[in-house]
Amino acid sequence: MNVTYSPGLEGVIAGETAISTVGKEGMGLNYRGYSIYDLAEHAGFEEVAHLLIHGRLPNRDELDAFRTRLITMRVLPEGLRHVLEQLPPTAHPMDVLRTGCSALGAMEPESAGHNQYGVAERLVASFPAMLLYWHHFHKTGERIATKSPEKGLAGHFLALLHGKTPDDLARQLVNASLILYAEHEFNASTFSARVTASTLSDFYSAVTSAIGTLRGPLHGGANEEAMKLITRFKSPEEAENGIYEMLERKEKIMGFGHRVYKKADPRSAVIKEWSRRISEASGNMLLYQVSERIENILQKEKGLYPNLDFYSASAYHLCGIPTAMFTPVFVFARICGWSAHIIEQRAANRLYRPIANYIGPEPMPYVAIEERT
Ligand code: COA
Repeated sequence: MNVTYSPGLEGVIAGETAISTVGKEGMGLNYRGYSIYDLAEHAGFEEVAHLLIHGRLPNRDELDAFRTRLITMRVLPEGLRHVLEQLPPTAHPMDVLRTGCSALGAMEPESAGHNQYGVAERLVASFPAMLLYWHHFHKTGERIATKSPEKGLAGHFLALLHGKTPDDLARQLVNASLILYAEHEFNASTFSARVTASTLSDFYSAVTSAIGTLRGPLHGGANEEAMKLITRFKSPEEAENGIYEMLERKEKIMGFGHRVYKKADPRSAVIKEWSRRISEASGNMLLYQVSERIENILQKEKGLYPNLDFYSASAYHLCGIPTAMFTPVFVFARICGWSAHIIEQRAANRLYRPIANYIGPEPMPYVAIEERT
């Protein structure tokens, strides 16, 4: 066996996939052959969810049926509502989703009558409900019905969050953002889902692993950290000084850099344009201007480019989404990619089990407890 060591598995091909192309030269990012630029401009999130989970873009009848199924699955079982009420108001929203996913797995386990496609759809439909049921219960004591007249998930999430019909621009922005976040090959959380699936564990366990992995600031948590960064500055000039100081201290700037994309993240230009549009529409350009100044400095000084998380921060903020919900919105989208990968892993399974270089002590004799110092 040819054994090489690659910390963080950098550059290692760990499997085959037909779901997306990340960093393949000249191809940007495609989901099952379709460019994310086309999808983000023309498609509804549900079309992309169908493409990823069921393997192809739906025709009109399939899309209508898919949407109808998702709408009926927005209501949470009573047991899960009780669980969500027990979680403290101080819990991080990612902990709420991780726990909600795990609890639902105990209440509606995978079975012959609730197969992997049914579980995937149930999770797509119900993650916004889990988060916002918990949110409103702890904020006002209200036990919301988690229903809305919104057909699409983007509008449904905003309607549940704000308790009113969302405006068109915010709905379109969140729709495009969900599409951009929906899938990204063997990223850390997807890999984590595939590792769990490779032990032949259940679907919910694989997704719970993925949520825990996404939570970290080097992965999905970066959009939340980017928001904390850009709101520290009251002007682009202040941002410039602050970023130079951070670079001097060798601090990481969240929302920049990528393991695979070294020249540019193809998703960034799309979300940046949405951030500009909503900033102009709201008459509040500060966060956008601060973000752009930071982008220019990082490009000039470090050759680093923003990833999808960076301009998502200002864009989400201007849609009225609380910062702690930024990474959960990523979950609402990425559940499609995770599901597609779990299904793909199961179809051609091989247990993931790498090996390690041992760097511990040499073998030594056991010492009786009385003789230990
Ligand atoms: N801010 C400042 N410097 C950064 C940086 C950032 N966000 N990202 C990378 N770098 C620098 C590193 O310090 C390193 O510099 P050095 O060679 O002088 O030590 C160099 O760029 C290579 O970075 P490295 O951390 O080895 O790359 P990686 O492939 O391991 O990391 C990330 C990829 C995503 C983990 C990394 O870019 C990062 O931590 N980004 C911030 C978190 C983030 O936005 N995550 C979301 C990813 S979609």
